[in-house]
Formats: sequence, C-alpha cells, structure tokens
Amino acid sequence: MEKRELLFDGNEKQVFATDDPELVIFRFKDVITAYNNVKRARVARKGIVSNAVSSLLFEYLRDKGVHTHFVSKLSEREQLCHKICIIPIELIVRNRFAGEEALRLGIEDGFTPPRTVYNLRYNNTALGNPLINDSEAEALGIASEEDLKIIYATGARINSLLSELFRKAGIELIDFKLEFGRLKGGAVVVSDEISPDTCRLWDQSTGERLDKDRFRFDLGSVVASYQIVYDKLIKIQE
Ligand code: TMP
Repeated sequence: MEKRELLFDGNEKQVFATDDPELVIFRFKDVITAYNNVKRARVARKGIVSNAVSSLLFEYLRDKGVHTHFVSKLSEREQLCHKICIIPIELIVRNRFAGEEALRLGIEDGFTPPRTVYNLRYNNTALGNPLINDSEAEALGIASEEDLKIIYATGARINSLLSELFRKAGIELIDFKLEFGRLKGGAVVVSDEISPDTCRLWDQSTGERLDKDRFRFDLGSVVASYQIVYDKLIKIQE
C-alpha cells in the first residue's frame, strides 16, 4: 500500500490518497478542538490514543457485523479506510442528557430519559452544524428516507453493542456521534471515528468524565483519561 497525496486536512485528522482509488489513509493529529473549532489546542499523543480507541471500536463493531469504513490500523497514528462519499449528516445518540442538549432543553445534566434520544445535525461547518429533522434532510436531498432508516437502525445497534462493551469495562456510554458515507457500490457505512472525542464516557463507579468534556471544561488530564478508556477496553479483552 503506497501513501499518496493529502486529500483533506481537517482539524484533528488528515486523509491521504493511496495507490488504490478505493482506499484512503486517515492520520490522527495531536490536536483537539471543541465548540466548532473555537477552542483548540495541541495535546501530545492525543492522536495516538484516539486512533487506538477508534481502531479497537471499529474492529469490535466489524466483528459484530456492523459495516464501517474501517479496514485496518496501519500504525500508531494511521488507519486504512474505504474511500466514501460523505453523507453530510451527524447522528447523535443519547442515553442521558448532558452538555449543550441538557442546557437547550432545561434538563438536569445527566438525566436518564425513558428511551434513547436521537438528534440529526447537518454536517456543515459554515452553518455551525445545525440541528435538522428528517423531513428537512429529505427535502434538501441531504439523505433519503432509506438512508435515514439505515442511519437510525445503525445508531441503535451501535448503541446497544457499545453500551454493553463499555459497561463490561466499567464505563457508561452517555452519548455519542456517528458520521456516515456511501461506498462505491452505494452501501451506507459508518465513517469518521468513534473515540472519547465523539462519545461521552463516564466512569461507572466515580462518574469521572473520561472524554472530550475534560478539554471542553478545562478539567485537565485529557490524554490520560483517553488512555484509561483504552486500557479498560483492552483489559476486558484479555
Ligand atoms: P452534544 O452534547 O454537543 O450534542 O454532543 C453529543 C455527543 O456527540 C458528545 O459525545 C459529543 C459528540 N459530538 C461530536 O463528536 N461532534 C459534534 O460535532 C457534535 C455536535 C457532537
């Protein structure tokens, strides 16, 4: 596999072409951002631990039959992935209300609703990734009714699989974000990453935040917390 030109230089990741037109290389940077890139910092080793967690979770999901863009972990910072055509939708899955969503709805932070809550966001940085509903997504041609069916079903399946996995590791999966894309043949798959950057993860016994909220709220020990998540996930596989 030959690494070729830089295709995309994102906030926290880069995407490179390869000699295979259907495969790309994702490279995780030591950069962390929040609030739509308003808050930003360089954090040593952050890319390494994010890649480690995301690769582990994508491998786990693949073993359970979930289709993602992930092919293999190549190195400390790199993954080989299928090239996709981005569907500009983010699906947020919530087991508890936390952060901005709790504030927006005037709900106590950490409240557990009687059912899983889903939000869609239009992945458009210039607009600040606004909330969008199904009818808007369909009307604007962002995602079809069939795409949305797959997106919600995949979100529910991943929630069930990852909640169980994290529970075994002593961690509660509070919420997470998924992105999606289309493979060359048209199949909809999960893309981007799943890591403490894109999930809220609370220690089951202490309630300690082990995710990007450590950066959002200046709680410190960002990479050390991400590493705890990785170590706990590795421990249950031994
Ligand atoms: P929220 O509380 O901002 O709605 O975020 C819910 C979860 O989704 C949280 O774990 C962070 C993650 N998320 C992202 O990873 N990227 C995003 O752009 C957004 C809006 C949320």
